[in-house]
Amino acid sequence: MRTVVITGGTDGMGAALARHHLRAGDRVAVVGRSRAKFDALLAAAEAEGALSPAGRARFLAADLSLLADNERVIDRLRQHYDRIDVLVLAASFIRQKRHVTAEGREASWMLFLVSKYLFVTGLADRLAAAGRPVIVNTAVPGTRPDAIDFDDLELAGRFTFSRANAQQRRANELLGILATRNADLSYITWGPRNLVRTSFAGETGPVMKWTAALLAPLVGQDPGDAVRPVIRLIDDPRPGRAAYRGAKEAGLVPGPDDEGDAERLARAVERMVTG
Ligand SMILES: NC(=O)c1ccc[n+]([C@@H]2O[C@H](COP(=O)([O-])OP(=O)(O)OC[C@H]3O[C@@H](n4cnc5c(N)ncnc54)[C@H](OP(=O)(O)O)[C@@H]3O)[C@@H](O)[C@H]2O)c1
Repeated sequence: MRTVVITGGTDGMGAALARHHLRAGDRVAVVGRSRAKFDALLAAAEAEGALSPAGRARFLAADLSLLADNERVIDRLRQHYDRIDVLVLAASFIRQKRHVTAEGREASWMLFLVSKYLFVTGLADRLAAAGRPVIVNTAVPGTRPDAIDFDDLELAGRFTFSRANAQQRRANELLGILATRNADLSYITWGPRNLVRTSFAGETGPVMKWTAALLAPLVGQDPGDAVRPVIRLIDDPRPGRAAYRGAKEAGLVPGPDDEGDAERLARAVERMVTG
């Protein structure tokens, strides 16, 4: 029985993966904010034929834009599991404007990078205990190698949505360099090929709201269909880093000093975390 941890596992593509793994007989830990969504997920998995999903599923409530919640949940995961086979990083809350959390941190940088860094590093030994561990990071691959502003990671001075998004995507590719220091580990940066009919959780402007409300129901892919390529990648992992859009492999975009950038990113996040 595999142990699968899914952040953002209560909704959208994370929930589709959680249901799949419950049907497949795996042990599944879902991290999210809504217990009600988790209960609905269990009911759906059972209706789809999963056997006693409640006995194999665990819900960990957390706001992953908060450092304290990340640390608490990672501690609990470490207490519960000696081995983690699959880690899916799919928590998402789209903010078009800069938002500062109660801890005084930029919310999107925390959710889309710092939280992922903490899960990858904080669970590294649990992943190493698995034979063929896999991390799936749902960050759309392929962005400029110079997208990170190392002097202002939380973009206090010059926040725009596209700048923040590019920076997070680049940082998530660098996170793969740190993760695959475990040579047995498969780290997949994955984004869907098309729009997917999900909740699009977030605080967005009218254009994005209309896209989600009007376009997604019409042309958006079903989340269960969208994650099929992810399921195949998880079932037959290849050690090392790779990037995919849907089922199609996408080239990783190398920069002039990726190793150096990955180290610099790790140092910056560690400094931030230790205060
Ligand atoms: N949908 C698309 O077309 C599309 C396209 C490109 C890339 N993606 C990427 O695919 C991934 C999954 O997206 P999705 O559209 O499936 O997501 P979604 O339906 O919007 O679901 C978001 C998930 O993240 C959780 N979440 C949100 N804020 C959180 C927080 N502060 N702390 C903890 N959990 C939080 C939500 O849980 P609760 O509701 O329980 O809080 C929910 O489970 C994301 O990385 C997204 O950027 C999606």
